[in-house]
Amino acid sequence: MNILYIIAMQAEAQPFIDHYGVQEVKDFFAPLPCKLYQTSIKGANGETSTLSVVLNGQQHGSDLVGCEAASMATLAAIERLHPDLVINSGTCGGFQSRGADIAKVYIGNACMFHDRRVPGDDQWGTQALGNYPVWEGAEALAGQLHLPMGKVTTGSSLDMQPCDLKIIQENGGELKDMEGAAVAFVCSLMATPILFVKSVTDLCDSGAETFEEFSRNLAKASQALKETNIRVIDHLTNAV
Ligand code: ADE
Repeated sequence: MNILYIIAMQAEAQPFIDHYGVQEVKDFFAPLPCKLYQTSIKGANGETSTLSVVLNGQQHGSDLVGCEAASMATLAAIERLHPDLVINSGTCGGFQSRGADIAKVYIGNACMFHDRRVPGDDQWGTQALGNYPVWEGAEALAGQLHLPMGKVTTGSSLDMQPCDLKIIQENGGELKDMEGAAVAFVCSLMATPILFVKSVTDLCDSGAETFEEFSRNLAKASQALKETNIRVIDHLTNAV
């Protein structure tokens, strides 16, 4: 199996990169800033899988986050690597009113945008929300690994305006991130299945200042993400 991870921040990916000892393939995406790490994994059935981890890279001295960078990295990676499955993994905000907790790791069962307000008819509203499909095996995988599921909701800001919250609530969003639906958008165009693995760094309804809560919990949530991703990869590749 050819598995492609799309991860925004180095801090989210580092525990995972260290665990697998994936090697950076220098300048693979030049002149784009995305970074590729790759290794192969032996399965119990004798099959060898390829694990590629793509980071968005940096600009202005910080990791590129958000929909533009995620779309760019996903398209470049799918065109060059031809994955069987894209996994968008990273941190997210959760809602304690919906059972979220810090470092709780979810599998996405759907995805949407919450900050694209396009007035007009049903077609424009549908495009704005996105609601792209997720990999058909996501539910079975979550069941087998005993992982909770939730709907990824994507916007271009770490904070949340009241109009964002309204759209999130009206459409059942649960895992607030800045890349998921953008990755899924490209996957839908490229007919490539997508799986989400998301770990909670902050609770959008806790009353805490989001960036402070996110920063305080980033290492813990990324550690939990690594542990779950190892289980996901073992499951997908039948690792020995
Ligand atoms: N990533 C981690 N926490 C987030 C939040 N609250 N909103 C958007 N992206 C996030």
